[in-house]
Amino acid sequence: MAGNHGPQGIMSSDADCAYPGRLSPQAVREGLKTRWLGQQAIYCFDAVESTNTEASNLARQGAVEGTVVLAEAQRKGRGRLGRSWISHPGTGVCLSVILRPQTPPEWGGRLTLTAGVAVAAAIAETGIRPELKWPNDIMISDHKVGGILTEASFGGNSIGPVIVGVGINVDTNSEDFPVSIRNIATSLRLSSGIEVSRVALVQAFLRQLEQWYELFCKGSFGAILETWREYETVLGGLVEVYLPDSRLQGMAENIDSDGALLVRDKKGRLHRIMGGDVVRCRVRERQRL
Ligand code: BTN
Repeated sequence: MAGNHGPQGIMSSDADCAYPGRLSPQAVREGLKTRWLGQQAIYCFDAVESTNTEASNLARQGAVEGTVVLAEAQRKGRGRLGRSWISHPGTGVCLSVILRPQTPPEWGGRLTLTAGVAVAAAIAETGIRPELKWPNDIMISDHKVGGILTEASFGGNSIGPVIVGVGINVDTNSEDFPVSIRNIATSLRLSSGIEVSRVALVQAFLRQLEQWYELFCKGSFGAILETWREYETVLGGLVEVYLPDSRLQGMAENIDSDGALLVRDKKGRLHRIMGGDVVRCRVRERQRL
């Protein structure tokens, strides 16, 4: 891990400002309106394999809850379901937070939705209206602008350290996306024309996450879900769910108390979905169902 310890235990990368509006610990700390999240340690790197991997290593070494890891570029950014997260260097937010909730292991799904609410609310503060696609895709006009990868090391009666990893395309140009995802990916600027400060967005996210995470720890999932519903796009509609070995079509009816998606198939059976990919059906597909 490259870097120098700063005066307040904050670590910053060795490299000079290679990116405009660079994310530095100092920039993020200045005006950060949290009580504890990001107040003790913020690490900013030019390039890492994955901020989630860095955060997980730090957590293993005893890093405090609320430690934040940021990178301008990731060599092996990870997404859900074993996918990679590709982000153009210096144009987005690649961030991981270490949390240490003393909550039951089965609340893991709740935490993913909680992080989704924090990301959506932070983006909404910029004047851009995002949507959430279960469980954790951040969408704008049917294009993916961000995603969340929550990784926990289960053990004992609580979740254990959890790494909440967030990727948001902020200022990415269309040609910066690989051709394979160009028609499904977007950035905040591409979709809205609004230039968003990455520092301000990170600060807003940390503030929102602190607030929603505290509710999560208190067990107030109802309040979190209420806000999650304000942003979500699949409930009440027909969906196709891609599971590891099968595919399911049906009506997305609800979210249960564990954050699972409840889908009713055409035979009336209710399926409880904890993973997989959800695709909303378009009109022609709906007629075939
Ligand atoms: C997804 O949509 O599948 C989740 C994408 C999560 C990407 C972020 S970027 C920061 C953090 N580090 C990673 O390797 N992944 C997450």
